[in-house]
Amino acid sequence: MSSEDKNKPNKSSEMSRRKFFNLIGWGGLLASVGGSAVGTYKFMFPTVLYEPPTVFKIGKAADFGMGVDERLKKERQIWVVKNDRGLYVLIAICRHLGCTPNWFPDQQRFRCPCHGSIYDIYGNVRGGPAPRTLWRAAVSIDAADNQISVNFLNRQDPDPESTAEGLTVEEPPRETAPYFVKSA
Ligand code: FES
Repeated sequence: MSSEDKNKPNKSSEMSRRKFFNLIGWGGLLASVGGSAVGTYKFMFPTVLYEPPTVFKIGKAADFGMGVDERLKKERQIWVVKNDRGLYVLIAICRHLGCTPNWFPDQQRFRCPCHGSIYDIYGNVRGGPAPRTLWRAAVSIDAADNQISVNFLNRQDPDPESTAEGLTVEEPPRETAPYFVKSA
């Protein structure tokens, strides 16, 4: 091979270099088109977290009988409790570590299956490690349809007294608005 030939660019290596740069160009273009397509998709369908509403209606006071009503425990995490003075809503979350207690009508007690906390029908602690009484949610009557509206995040949480029976909040002084709906 002459020295002239050596200095001439090799045709096949020139071609493959061109191909290589072509590929890079197309790859970059595809990546940028793909990226903006993903961005557009995310814009059209944003990530939304569907959480249950924290304010909701549960029906009229007349829909509930005396004592503890468990119908909304699974769906709303509440018990509706009615006595001869009116109605209140207990939140079905144990004050120890947040498990869901069960209601035992024959004992008139809520019992937590996790570590054994026991509460009476008012939410007072009657045994186990729970450090506070059960929360009560704020309730009000909607004038438009007479339904009870529950505000799950507005909770009554008075300091309990330590008595011989357990941690107790005096009843009925506790039965005040907005945590109690008086009987009509
Ligand atoms: S979570 Fe209920 S007793 Fe521990």
